Amino acid sequence: MAESKDVLVTGCSSGFGRLIALSLTGRGHRVFATVRDREGRAAGATAELVAQGAGRITVVEMDVERDASVEAAIGALAAGGAGIDVVVNNAGLSAMGLSEGFTTDQALRLFQVNVLGAHRVNRAVLPLMRERRRGLLVHVSTGLARMVMPCFGLYAASKAALEMLAEAYRFELAPLGIESAIVEPGPYPTALGKNMLAPAEPARLAGYGELAELPARMNAGLAAMFEASGAPDPREVADAVVALVEAPAGKRPLRTIVGGGSGQALGELNAVAERLQAETLRAQGLGHLLEVVTPE
Ligand SMILES: NC(=O)c1ccc[n+]([C@@H]2O[C@H](COP(=O)([O-])OP(=O)(O)OC[C@H]3O[C@@H](n4cnc5c(N)ncnc54)[C@H](OP(=O)(O)O)[C@@H]3O)[C@@H](O)[C@H]2O)c1
Repeated sequence: MAESKDVLVTGCSSGFGRLIALSLTGRGHRVFATVRDREGRAAGATAELVAQGAGRITVVEMDVERDASVEAAIGALAAGGAGIDVVVNNAGLSAMGLSEGFTTDQALRLFQVNVLGAHRVNRAVLPLMRERRRGLLVHVSTGLARMVMPCFGLYAASKAALEMLAEAYRFELAPLGIESAIVEPGPYPTALGKNMLAPAEPARLAGYGELAELPARMNAGLAAMFEASGAPDPREVADAVVALVEAPAGKRPLRTIVGGGSGQALGELNAVAERLQAETLRAQGLGHLLEVVTPE
C-alpha cells in the first residue's frame, strides 16, 4: 500500500467524485468528500459514502460557486487539524447544444463551476500547502477541452480555461513543492448527462435548419454507446486519479488521458503542445521552470 494521504475531492454526490472517494479510501487514504447539500438532495449519497468509506470518509458541505462556502469548508478542516495533501477538483457541470442558444447567464454559470470553482478551492488550500511545501492539485477536465466537438462549445471553452489555469499553476507552484495535474476523460456514463445544461433560448436555433437536429443525434449516439456491452466504465477515471495520488512527488505527468474517444489524437496534440510550451518558456528565459515540472 502507498503512504496514506489526506485527499479533498469535490462533487462526490455522484459519478466520478463518488468513485474517486471510495477508490481512495479502499487504498487506505483519508477522504474529505464534498457535496452541496449534505442533509438535503445529497443525504442518500452522504449516507452511502459514510457507510462504504471504511471510516475514512468525512463528508463536507461545499458549493464551489460560492467563496464563503469554500472558505468555510476548508477553514473548518484546517481548524480541525486536517492536513490536505491532495485536492481533486472534480465538481463540474456540462452543457450541450448549439452555442448560440445558451444565454450569457448560462455561460457564466458554467465558468463559475468549472473554472472559478477550481480556482476558489485552490486558493483556499494553497496557503496550507505552501506552508508545508508539498501538495497536489488535480483538475478533472475532459478530452473536449483539447479536441472540440460541435454542440460542446461552451463546456469545452470552460474546461480549456481550466486547463490553462492548471498549467500555469504547475509552473508557479512546482518550485514550492506543489504539483498541478490534469485528467482528461473521454465520455463515461455518469449523472453528467442528466445534469447537463440545454440551450435556454431554443427559439433562436430555428434558423439552423437540419443542424438543429445535431444535439439530439449526438445524445442518441452517446446513449447507445453507454448502453452497449463494453460501455466505458467510470471506475477507469477513479483508477487514474488514484494512480496520480500515489505517484511519487515530482513524477506526476501534466496530463493523463483516460478512455477512448479521441485518445490517440489527444496524446499527439498534448505531446506537441508540451514541446512547444517548453520551447516558448526557454525562449522567454524561463527554461529553469521546466527542470522542476518535467518528470524524467
Ligand atoms: N462523465 C463524463 O463523460 C465526463 C467526461 C469528461 C469529464 N467529465 C468531468 O468529470 C467531472 C465529474 O463529472 P461526472 O461525470 O461525475 O458528473 P456528475 O455525476 O454530474 O457529477 C458532477 C458532480 O459535480 C457536483 N457539482 C456541480 N455543481 C457544483 C457546485 N456548484 N458545487 C459543488 N459541487 C457541484 C455535482 O453535485 P450535485 O449533485 O450537487 O449537482 C456532482 O457531484 C466534471 O468536472 C465533468 O466535467 C465528465
